[in-house]
Amino acid sequence: MKFFLDTANLDQIRTAQEMGIIDGVTTNPSLMAKEGITGETNILDHYVKICNLVEGDVSAEVISTEYKSMVSEGEKLASLHPQIVVKIPVIAEGIKAIKALTSKDIRTNCTLIFNPGQALLAAKAGASYVSPFIGRLDDIGQDGMELIHQLVHIFDVYGMTTEIIAASIRNTSHILQCMDSGAHVATCPLDAITGLLNHPLTEAGLEKFLSDHRRLNG
Ligand code: G3P
Repeated sequence: MKFFLDTANLDQIRTAQEMGIIDGVTTNPSLMAKEGITGETNILDHYVKICNLVEGDVSAEVISTEYKSMVSEGEKLASLHPQIVVKIPVIAEGIKAIKALTSKDIRTNCTLIFNPGQALLAAKAGASYVSPFIGRLDDIGQDGMELIHQLVHIFDVYGMTTEIIAASIRNTSHILQCMDSGAHVATCPLDAITGLLNHPLTEAGLEKFLSDHRRLNG
């Protein structure tokens, strides 16, 4: 399973890249706003900075909600850097835009997926990725992981080549479940990924190794 970092924070991206644990980055307008990135020029520059920090795909989301402007915005984003994947919301205009961008060899990530039907339509239109949101389904009392299991099964049965990005991941437990599910990618906050390293037996074992060494070596 690939890991994408779900952030627009350059320090976190640099940290994860230095650890060698990420395969790409996903952003969205809320994450860009969280970093205080405003104005078209600054936003476009920020995407290029992210691409220069990581080796893998970098999802950059359109702001438009109308077909023609989604396509032109997507073309502009894609022209910034070969690593850019254009993120498009799963609305009717967005599905048309995915089809048009795909025909121009521009890769897309269809976002805000909350049911299998939305994912199947995005995949049929040619989306490179779909992003089902686990955490937001959990927030309203539904089972986000169940959607991942359904999508893995459906895409397998129908031979879809679209990759599933498990998104809206809130904790390490979500990641462990995704690893089991067959999701192609999990896009996560950095602390959820590094949380995978934590185990009380690792901490206790390391302390014992070091204290045994100190006892004999001073
Ligand atoms: O990749 C989508 C993700 O950023 C949404 O996460 O935590 O805002 O639901 P969250």
